[in-house]
Amino acid sequence: MCGIVGAVAERNVVEILLEGLKRLEYRGYDSAGVALLQPSGELTRIRRTGKVQELADAVAEDSALGSTGIAHTRWATHGGVTERNAHPHCSSERISVVHNGIIENYLALREALTQQGYTFTSDTDTETIAHTVHAEMQKGKSLLAAVQNSVKQFHGAYGTVVMDSEDPSRVVVARSGSPLVIGLGLGENFIASDQMALLPVTRRFIFLEEGDVAEITRREVSVYDANGEPVKREVIESNIEHDAGDKGGCRHYMLKEIHEQPTVVRNALQNRLGESGLVADIFGAGADDILSKVKHVQIIACGTSYHAGMTARYWLEQYANVSCNVEIASEFRYRKSVVHQNSLLVTISQSGETADTLAALRLAKEVGYMASLTICNVPGSSLVRESDLAFMTRAGAEIGVASTKAFTTQLTAFLMLTLAVGKYNGLSEADSSSIVKALHSLPAKLEETLAITQGIEDLAEEFADKNHSLFLGRGDQYPIAMEGALKLKEISYIHAEAYASGELKHGPLALIDDEMPVIVVAPNNELLEKLKSNVEEVRARGGIMYVFADRDARFASDDTMRVINVPHCEAPIAPIVYTLPLQLLSYYVALIKGTDVDQPRNLAKSVTVE
Ligand code: AGP
Repeated sequence: MCGIVGAVAERNVVEILLEGLKRLEYRGYDSAGVALLQPSGELTRIRRTGKVQELADAVAEDSALGSTGIAHTRWATHGGVTERNAHPHCSSERISVVHNGIIENYLALREALTQQGYTFTSDTDTETIAHTVHAEMQKGKSLLAAVQNSVKQFHGAYGTVVMDSEDPSRVVVARSGSPLVIGLGLGENFIASDQMALLPVTRRFIFLEEGDVAEITRREVSVYDANGEPVKREVIESNIEHDAGDKGGCRHYMLKEIHEQPTVVRNALQNRLGESGLVADIFGAGADDILSKVKHVQIIACGTSYHAGMTARYWLEQYANVSCNVEIASEFRYRKSVVHQNSLLVTISQSGETADTLAALRLAKEVGYMASLTICNVPGSSLVRESDLAFMTRAGAEIGVASTKAFTTQLTAFLMLTLAVGKYNGLSEADSSSIVKALHSLPAKLEETLAITQGIEDLAEEFADKNHSLFLGRGDQYPIAMEGALKLKEISYIHAEAYASGELKHGPLALIDDEMPVIVVAPNNELLEKLKSNVEEVRARGGIMYVFADRDARFASDDTMRVINVPHCEAPIAPIVYTLPLQLLSYYVALIKGTDVDQPRNLAKSVTVE
C-alpha cells in the first residue's frame, strides 16, 4: 500500500528519496511523486503514474535538487490512478503533503475549505490535509502548531508528512492509524512509513505512537503525544539486513523467499526448541505464567495469516485440548462476540500493520480478553508494540506481495504455541514428543520438498490456459488448500476456490468438468480413505486431478489424475510441508502467464487501510 519517505539534510536528498521509494515498491502502488525544497525555498514537485523508475527518469531529466524533501508511492483509494491524484499534494505553492491512510471526513472538509476559497486540483482526500494546514498557518501558527491543530479536524487514518516552502529547515509528521518511523542520521534525519526505506542511510529508528506529532530538523527530533505534550520515544537499533531487498540470484523475490523457507524455519526454532521441549518464556517475559491460565484461544488475522490461524485451530484443539475460534479481522472488529473465560487473543500478521487486525486487537483489549499475543514478522511494528506478548517469526524481510516464508514461520510458531498451551491443558506425552520430533525434522523436510521443483514446473504448463480451479483438502490440510487457492488467484489471476473435500457433494461438484483442474492435498493421515472417496467423486464426473500425495498414500497417475509425491513427514508438520509445492505451483503458473509475480495487480504488501 502507499509508501512515504522524507528527509531533512544538508546534502541533496533526491537519491535517498528515490532509493527509499524503490525499497517500498514491494508494498504495491500505482503512481509516485516527490516534492523537493532547496535551501532558498524553491519548490519542485514531480509526479508520475506507473513505476518509481518513471518518476526517477523525470526527476533526472529535470535535474531536480533539494536538501529537504518528501516522496510517496500511492495506492489509489480516493480518485483514479492519474498524475493529478498522485502525491505530494500542495496548497498555495507553500504547503506540500504526503499521506498514507484515509481521511474519512474529507468531503465535509473539502466543502468547508472550498467555501474559504481553496481550489482543489485532485480528487483525493489527502489534498484536504494540505489546505487545512495552510489555513491554520494563515492564522499565524508555526508549522508544528498548524499540523497539531489540523489533525484534530481529521477523522480516519493518517501517516502524514508536511513541508513548508517558507521554511525548508523542517518537516512535521503526524501518525494515527498509519505507521511512521523516524530515521536518525548524523546531521540529517529521515521519515518513512517502513524502516526498509531508510536502511541505506540509518539503522537507528524511533517508531511513532498513535496520536504522535513530530517536528524533524537536521539536528533535532521533537515528538509530542496526542495531548500535545513533549514525549521521549525509545530509539531502536534495527538488525534487519541492509540487502534484504536483494533477489539473491533468483528471478523473483517470491522464488527466493520460497527457497529460504528451510533456513527461516530453522531460525524460528533456534534457541526456542530444546531437545525435548520448549525453552521457557519464548513468547515473551512472563509468558508461561499467562499461558498456564489459558482455557480458550481467539485468533484474529487476514488473508494468508488467517489461513495460519485456521490451521492452528486444528492443532490447538487436537493436541493442546483448548477450544479455539478463528476469525477474519474485518468481521471480528464490527460484530459483538462472546469473550470466553481465560481467553487469549492471538493476532497473526506478517507486517504487524494490517489495519483491520490492529483495530481488532484494540477492540479486544476493551472487551475483557485475558491477554493478547501477536505472532508477527516485523519487530517494532504496531501489533508488536500494542500486544501484551509478542513472538517474532524471524522470517526476514518478505518482499513478494504473496506471502510464503512468513506463512510457514507463522505455522511453526503455532506448533510451538500448541506445545506451550498444551503443557497446562493435558497435552499427552506422546503428542508432545511427536510435535517436538516433527519440528526438529522440519527444516530438512522442507529442503527435501523443494527438491521436487522440476515436476511442478511441468505441471504448471497444464494450468496456464485454465480460468478456474478447485483446491481440496481435509482436516488440517483444508486451510492449506485455502492458502494454495489464494496463492494461485493472487499471482496468476486464475480463479481458485478451496473446499473441505467432504463438502464437494453439497454444491461444488456441479462445477466439475475437464476445464476445471482439481488440486488435492493428500498426506497419509487418518482422513486419507475419506479423501480418496472424494477423489473418486471427482473422477466419476470427468474431473482432471492433480494430487500432492505422500508416497505411501498409494495414488497412481493415470488419464484423469496426475500424482506428485511429497516426502513423507510426521503428521503435525504435514500442513507446513504441503504448503511448499502449492506455492511453487502458483509461482510457475504465474511465470508462464507472464504476470507481475512480486507485485500482482491491485494488491499491496502491507494493508494499512481498512
Ligand atoms: C498473502 O499472500 C497476502 N498478500 C495477504 O493475504 C496477507 O496475508 C494479508 O493482507 C494479511 O497481511 P499481514 O499478514 O501483514 O497482516
